[in-house]
Amino acid sequence: MITLDEFTIQQLRLYPQATGELSGLLRGIGLAAKMVNVQVNKAAIADILGEDGGAVNVQGETVQKLDSLANNTFINVLRHGIHCAGIVSEENEEMIVFDDPKNNQSKYVVLMDPLDGSSNTDVNAPIGTIFSIYRRVSKLGEPCTKEDFLQKGDNQFAAGYVLYGSSTMFVYGTRRHSVNGFTLDNSVGEFYLSNPHMQMPVDGKTYHFDYKYYHGVDQRVRTFLDYCNEPVDNLDGRFANKNAGCMVADMHRIFLKGGMFLYPTRKNKPQGKLRLMYECNPMAFLTELCGGSATDGTRRIMEIEPTDYHERTPIFIGSKHLVDQFESCPVDDN
Ligand code: AHG
Ligand code: MN
Ligand code: MN
Ligand code: MN
Repeated sequence: MITLDEFTIQQLRLYPQATGELSGLLRGIGLAAKMVNVQVNKAAIADILGEDGGAVNVQGETVQKLDSLANNTFINVLRHGIHCAGIVSEENEEMIVFDDPKNNQSKYVVLMDPLDGSSNTDVNAPIGTIFSIYRRVSKLGEPCTKEDFLQKGDNQFAAGYVLYGSSTMFVYGTRRHSVNGFTLDNSVGEFYLSNPHMQMPVDGKTYHFDYKYYHGVDQRVRTFLDYCNEPVDNLDGRFANKNAGCMVADMHRIFLKGGMFLYPTRKNKPQGKLRLMYECNPMAFLTELCGGSATDGTRRIMEIEPTDYHERTPIFIGSKHLVDQFESCPVDDN
């Protein structure tokens, strides 16, 4: 039984020049995740469900109490730690610079979606956290800058997610290593290694898309959806359609069982919905580490040069053969 903390330290020993900072940062994120988990577990009896006083975030979304609670927890834990120079969060329009001597010494910044799947909170359905870690490009010892955050996904140093599901899991990967999953033992309060060296199957049996949007997507996406839904065996469709309303939960199934998640553009959402920096990039990073693919329809997600912390992108992500199949569908010229 290896704990998350032991595991990250063990990985360090493979690199004599490593300083242990990443390991410390991951420990901080794991601690915040456990604190959020405690709140999520008792949400219905702790008066932390529903909207947060009508607040609206920079995306124009109504903020839920759990969005704010998770956001504050991650910010406070990382601010009081010593391994993070600053944060960009879905719930804050501007970057948060931890301008103090200990944090200014840190070489890492974090971008995060503190609570993914907000619409699931009130109905006890799965929710998650997504994070992306970059090495700073600005000078150590000084406050972090916008350029530290606005790096393309290919520069990510590490990324991961937490799934608050039927059990709580912490999954992360680094550039040097594979992706590993840890399950929280609630009675002990520790994440234990449960899914070493995760690899995504190249094929899958599920595609994750909200059919409410079928009519507004372009012909290429419809061609692919029709392929997925084509009757093949006793009139059953080729693949099962699933949509958890939480990218983390959908992607977790895909990491373990294979499949594909789609959030394309549509007529009334020409940029798509999901955010490049703290939803799509970290999931693309983990997916590629596990042998899968992630594209916006024309290029790899992680090649996109970002211009805004909160920019959106269409995304097609998951098992290699399914993404290949999507890419082979003819592009709609209209
Ligand atoms: P968030 O709760 O962080 O704003 O993100 C929710 C995302 C994603 O998890 C989910 O797959 C998608 O939004 C659902 O989008 P719709 O609002 O179109 O249902
Ligand atoms: Mn949101
Ligand atoms: Mn999200
Ligand atoms: Mn969110």
